[in-house]
Amino acid sequence: MNATPARVEHQLTDKGYVPVYTTAVIEQPWSTYSTTDHEVWATLFARQREVLVGRASDEFLRTQASMGMTPDRIPKFDELNKLLRKATGWELIGVQGLLPELDFFDHLANRRFPVTWWIRKPEQLDYLSEPDLFHDLFGHVPLLMNPVFADYMAAYGRGGVKAHGIGGEALTYLTRLYWYTVEFGLIKQADGLRIYGSGIVSSKGESIHCLESNAPNRIGFDLERIMRTRYRIDTYQKTYFVIDSYEQLMEATSPDFAPIYAKLDTLPSIPAGDVLQTDTVFNHGTGEGWLSDGDV
Ligand code: PHE
Ligand code: FE
Repeated sequence: MNATPARVEHQLTDKGYVPVYTTAVIEQPWSTYSTTDHEVWATLFARQREVLVGRASDEFLRTQASMGMTPDRIPKFDELNKLLRKATGWELIGVQGLLPELDFFDHLANRRFPVTWWIRKPEQLDYLSEPDLFHDLFGHVPLLMNPVFADYMAAYGRGGVKAHGIGGEALTYLTRLYWYTVEFGLIKQADGLRIYGSGIVSSKGESIHCLESNAPNRIGFDLERIMRTRYRIDTYQKTYFVIDSYEQLMEATSPDFAPIYAKLDTLPSIPAGDVLQTDTVFNHGTGEGWLSDGDV
């Protein structure tokens, strides 16, 4: 099925203004991918696998290799689903674009990961402002093979449904957590800092920048600190947060967030580039190249 869903409205999200679609789930129209689509996948796949050696976390590289994703063709969701279901009970569902928040949380809570079915154009290899198949599949799906990370993502979905019910700023705090972990997280391995965030692993420039540039801050994971920290949607991040392990992520996020949200309501948000006295600092960023406004 290759449904063209109706656009209902534009919504301001992490990715700027994006259309929100009514048709939720679309079967991956695999036979309609063009030669160019497969070539874009091949180019990006080969390029990122090379960039990520020694930069992505061992677990990311291992799980990705275990899924049988190859450069020669866009993977079929059905084939990946057999492996995912067996490993962690997750499955992929095809979508046209970003979903309404509650739908997204409900899918995650039920171990369904929405993957954008279409892939970017050849002139968009380095940047596009909304998630596409490459970002979703290459970036997000591998760690769903890891049982601890898989549980974290489902817990996040349940937490999202709950935060949606609480209202106020709860979703803002939760979105910052997603941003600084799932999308832009770093992890400390015995042999140094590595990337696990999907927004980084699907970007060649940021994969190098986040680890090798002196400009950004690299700071130890701290739940409440992260939930107060604004972020960038249009440039590389000013700050990356470093976890010790996926278990740490799971444990730190297991308490009831309702009292934490209430406490955060009494505290100011933190600009994306600030370093606090209480931070565990791996790198105090030089701030080179930073724009002074534009945090969200
Ligand atoms: N513990 C959170 C809550 O009570 C749920 C959650 C788990 C959120 C994991 C994010 C990640 O809301
Ligand atoms: Fe993403």
